[in-house]
Amino acid sequence: MASITIRNLDETAKRRLRERAARNGRSMEEEARLLIQELPVSRDADSNGATDGNERLHVALEEERSSGNSFAVNDYPAAGKRILLIIGGGIAAYKCLDLIRRLRERRVEVRAIMTKAAQEFITPLSVGALSAQKVFTDLFDREDEQDVGHIRLAREADLVLVAPATADLMAKMANGLVDDLASAVLLATRAPVVVAPAMNPAMWDHPATRRNLAVLKADGIRIEGPAKGEMAESGESGTGRMVDPMILVDLIGDLLDDRPKPLAGKRAVVTSGPTHETIDPVRYIANRSSGKQGHAIAAALAALGAEVILVSGPVTIPVPRDVALVEVESAREMLRAVEAALPAEIAVMVAAVADFRIARESSQKIKKNKRTTRQPLELIENPDILKTIGHHKRRPSLVVGFAAETENLVKNAQAKLESKGADWIIANDVSLSSGVRGGVMGGDRNSISLLTRTGISKWPEMSKLEVARRLAEAIVESLSTSRVEV
Ligand SMILES: Cc1cc2nc3c(=O)[nH]c(=O)nc-3n(C[C@H](O)[C@H](O)[C@H](O)COP(=O)(O)O)c2cc1C
Repeated sequence: MASITIRNLDETAKRRLRERAARNGRSMEEEARLLIQELPVSRDADSNGATDGNERLHVALEEERSSGNSFAVNDYPAAGKRILLIIGGGIAAYKCLDLIRRLRERRVEVRAIMTKAAQEFITPLSVGALSAQKVFTDLFDREDEQDVGHIRLAREADLVLVAPATADLMAKMANGLVDDLASAVLLATRAPVVVAPAMNPAMWDHPATRRNLAVLKADGIRIEGPAKGEMAESGESGTGRMVDPMILVDLIGDLLDDRPKPLAGKRAVVTSGPTHETIDPVRYIANRSSGKQGHAIAAALAALGAEVILVSGPVTIPVPRDVALVEVESAREMLRAVEAALPAEIAVMVAAVADFRIARESSQKIKKNKRTTRQPLELIENPDILKTIGHHKRRPSLVVGFAAETENLVKNAQAKLESKGADWIIANDVSLSSGVRGGVMGGDRNSISLLTRTGISKWPEMSKLEVARRLAEAIVESLSTSRVEV
């Protein structure tokens, strides 16, 4: 038996272990133990001289990294499931061959239906050879329809994927038309449906396609893509390319992942966006926060199984899947909503809350004053949401605050950690000189330092989604123990 101290691993190893554990819905300790147990005897560090648990874990993580996939082939959450792949008649149909191969190597059973048009682009022979299954093409096939085969196909799928989804298939789906096997199965299935559109940018932008897209989304269909880039037609580029098959592989893995989630049973309250402080009926004080970071954190916690209440100021970005949204405007409303969401195990206060509000809101629009060009606004302090929650009688066990600073980043954040009663402060440099591409406020990237009561770690610049994912994994880690015997 060797002992592993997660704390002593280097940052890269910790991150890899954290990512792997989060994907598999396990604690880092459990994951470390399994990884070492799975290490083939020939690669077991015990047999090549290393007896230390952490060293053995490094060897195991290296094996994992060299597999090169976001979901390791042997560890795919949708393994053993059955995907019904509907291939539409577009140039991107060739990408399905790679998609089938990648799903099959992850032990997913792939049944394919090809539309008549799809067979102009790739052949049932190659689809059948790669899927190792009969390929279905005809609604009125005498053999298959002896037992109403299209209903059987619809019923037996764990997930239906339409890729590439032509403009024509999307139009049929949006209108419930059934004139071939693909459209019949799409109307008959109760399984989740994912659509990966691929078409010329002009077709994608056409109001008819936009209408159909809105209908499909409202029907609960998941749309993935299309991506931007060069089109098959020479000289054309824009939005219309089918997304990379690996994106679909990862999405299917996520959607069919029914393993236990590490934050299942835990409640998290996350604040996001700016607050608006009313001046008069048409004016308010606001800030440049877009809500991108807060929303991403809410989504990342939800993906790990937490019940997430997202208290958001006014933003224009979409609401993440699987979170309960509470929309607020002012700091005072935000505080009330956060308190109403307690008790919770986790609080992540990301919103850029206005420190001050107008002392006396005007019920009428403030008019220009002919006698003076000055119009002073008296400000009073808003409640401090982080501080209130950090000292609350129903304080969550982990309270995380964000400190957007433009100078003395670490010093100011350290002071906040103490005064606000927070466990962690995420300090981010929102100054124009932060060097973050596109700027932090409103942009897609972030550069943060995580301050805990025991130290500080500076994370490299990364996307806000990546910050969210890593933070969620760090939260999982902090809620579990840090030492394990193997
Ligand atoms: C060379 C060629 C390429 C095509 N590429 C696409 C495409 O990428 N996306 C699309 O929506 N339609 C495309 N079409 C039109 C479809 O093939 C056509 O709408 C067909 O009826 C679709 O049938 P289906 O939806 O049953 O597969 C293309 C047609 C041709 C001739």
